[in-house]
Formats: sequence, structure tokens, C-alpha cells
Amino acid sequence: MTNHLFSPYEIKGLQLKNRVVMAPMCQYSVTARDGKPNEWHYVHYLSRAIGGAALIIMEMTDVEPDGRITDFDLGIWSDDHIPAFARIIDGVHAHGAKIGIQIAHAGRKAEDAKEPVAPSAIPYPGSRYKMPRALTVDEVNQMVQLYADAARRAVQAGVDMIELHGAHGYLIHQFQSLLPTNAKMRMEKT
Ligand SMILES: Cc1cc2nc3c(=O)[nH]c(=O)nc-3n(C[C@H](O)[C@H](O)[C@H](O)COP(=O)(O)O)c2cc1C
Repeated sequence: MTNHLFSPYEIKGLQLKNRVVMAPMCQYSVTARDGKPNEWHYVHYLSRAIGGAALIIMEMTDVEPDGRITDFDLGIWSDDHIPAFARIIDGVHAHGAKIGIQIAHAGRKAEDAKEPVAPSAIPYPGSRYKMPRALTVDEVNQMVQLYADAARRAVQAGVDMIELHGAHGYLIHQFQSLLPTNAKMRMEKT
């Protein structure tokens, strides 16, 4: 099963030096208030590159401030965010790893948003979740543009791949499923 773990792999032209991929993991770092990755994230990601992972996927990074699960999460909603991501990406590349980003919006699971948005005005189960406001059709179209802008900034920062977060009960998933979250996932914050 693990015979090939340390052999190279190619997926859609992306050359990986081995099969070790680090999944995106929100850091909820209290030092990040403006969505920009900081020293915490720099050390977190570079140390995995130094450790030998072939591909590192940066944590859920949101397309607008109120798309964050908490105010301590990363975002890429303005061009001002690009340099902080580029610094980490350059550092990871310097240590021989590839790096991607997970672009997202928490929708009705945005805990610190004054008024979260969602496909419909139905709250996520649990006392810490607020009643969301239903997005209008125009706002849904604007949301698509926010994802596109975020993707463009990630490419400008130098990412090797982009993952769109369509799971765990966040905005894209909310459009796909009536269930509050993936039935298999019982984690409160993922
Ligand atoms: C602290 C923590 C933060 C996480 N944040 C994210 C995230 O930002 N995006 C995501 O898709 N999954 C997130 N997850 C889920 C993991 O990426 C991964 O899917 C999960 O740990 C299961 O991985 P496994 O199937 O390799 O064991 C998080 C998990 C943990 C433990």
C-alpha cells in the first residue's frame, strides 16, 4: 500500500516529488485578524516543506471577510493580501515542495459575521450559529466573481494548484445538500 509513498507522481501536469500531501487545516491563529497569513502560518507551512511533504494545501482561505468561519481565519479578498501569501509560497518552493490554496466561503457557518449569508434563511444547527440572510440571485453572481478574484490573486501569489472548498457544510456545500453537513463528518470546525 505504501510502496509508492516516496516515488514521484504527476497530476494534471503538476509534478510531485512523492505522494505526501498535507491537507488544508485552519489554524484559527489569534494573531491573524485581517485575513493575512503571518509568522505563525509562515513557520507552519515552511516547516512541512522542510519536512519533505511534496504538496502542501494551505488552509481554508475565504473570498470575503464575512466568509470566514472566525475572524482568525485567512482570506484573500484584496490585492493587499497577495504579498503575505507570496512570501509563504516562495519559501515553500525554496524548500522543494509544491503549494496550493483552498478557496472558500463559510456561508451560514460564518460564526463571527454579523449576519451570515446562505442559500436560504435557515441556520446551521447549534447554538453558536446565527440566523443567516438568504443571498439574492445578484449576490450569488457576485459571489462567483469573488471566487474568481480570489483565484486570480492566488495565481498571482504563485500557487501551484487551487482547491475549491465544496464540503463540510460551507457555502458551496450548502447549495448542494439539504443535510447540515457531510453525514460522515461530525467535527464541529473543519
Ligand atoms: C485543525 C483542523 C483544521 C482543519 N481545517 C480544514 C480546512 O481548512 N479545510 C478542509 O477542507 N479541511 C480541514 N480539516 C480537515 C482535514 O483537512 C482533513 O480532511 C481531515 O483531518 C481528515 O483527514 P484524513 O482523511 O487524511 O485523516 C481540518 C482538520 C483539522 C484537524
